[in-house]
Amino acid sequence: MSLSISHKGKPQLLSAAQLTLESVEHLFHYADMLRPVASRMKVCRILEGAVLANLFFEASTRTRISFSSAFARLGGAVSDTTGLTFSSISKGESISDTSRVISGYVDAIVVRHPQIGAVAEFAAATNLPLINGGDGPGEHPSQAILDLYTIINELSRVKKTISGSHIAIVGDLKYGRTAHSLIKLLSLYKGVKFTLISPQSLIMPEYIMNSVAHSGNSIDERVSLSSEIRDIDIVYATRMQKERFTSDEIDSDFPDFQINKKFIGTFCKPEVILMHPLPRDSSKDALDLSTDLDSDPRLAIFRQTDNGIPVRMALFSILLGVESLIAKNLQDATWKHPKLLGPNDHFSLR
Ligand code: NCD
Repeated sequence: MSLSISHKGKPQLLSAAQLTLESVEHLFHYADMLRPVASRMKVCRILEGAVLANLFFEASTRTRISFSSAFARLGGAVSDTTGLTFSSISKGESISDTSRVISGYVDAIVVRHPQIGAVAEFAAATNLPLINGGDGPGEHPSQAILDLYTIINELSRVKKTISGSHIAIVGDLKYGRTAHSLIKLLSLYKGVKFTLISPQSLIMPEYIMNSVAHSGNSIDERVSLSSEIRDIDIVYATRMQKERFTSDEIDSDFPDFQINKKFIGTFCKPEVILMHPLPRDSSKDALDLSTDLDSDPRLAIFRQTDNGIPVRMALFSILLGVESLIAKNLQDATWKHPKLLGPNDHFSLR
């Protein structure tokens, strides 16, 4: 039974395939313990003096800010880089040189890069704890961990578990790296029914399907939102990754792929949970999660983003080997904070 998270013997997270049921449960135990820190009731400074390099060579808002906030809430400091233009990689420096240079300055690294394989190259050139923050259309394992944490918490509120549930993953499954990592992680469980719904040209890649086939879970693939599907417990919608489309894909006329009130009313159980890794395209006819569901308490998207903080704090704690210090380093926070963070919030993080 392995509770550690490692890649080639180093404390690095590159793929959801590295995780086991035991290692995620171990991580969630600490994420639960750190929830009061994420909700600003407690303070915990077990990474005092440590520095994180948060290297984002591709667009990001929530992943970059939540990694830096998680590290800072554990008492660490963060050094950020955004875009390729402002890094020495634009001067011809190799990924491995950059990785080794930065290893001399910091104690942990998060990397997002537009190419599959680039984060693994970064990881190979350092012995420091490192997390893949998204490698092009490859994987985004920390997002899958926070998605799984959200699914478990949301299902438990309606007295259900993952085993026995029907999960629909919808949208751009070809380029959507969060969907790739999530289906790998969910495949650790038995008795799950997956329905994958995407336009024909954006179906889940075969290599991902092959990597989850061993789980024995039922996987049904659909290319239309209107076909016969019933009784969905969780809808995990994703954005069309237009920035990764080929010129043919840019010109294609996709069928209606909007997840809205009508879809939820027709195909889902009344207590369905609605998720999305965000960002979503909020324009009126976008093939994405519609804003007509915004005040629906079943919409879990902001509970999901909020969960990014305790999950990423737990991940840093484990990769830097300080998780056993959490319990005795929790202190009351000294400032006040609203109980509900946004006007449409229905449940508090606390
Ligand atoms: C996703 C990503 O970057 O892969 N966002 C995120 O990290 N939460 C999804 C996307 O960009 O559509």
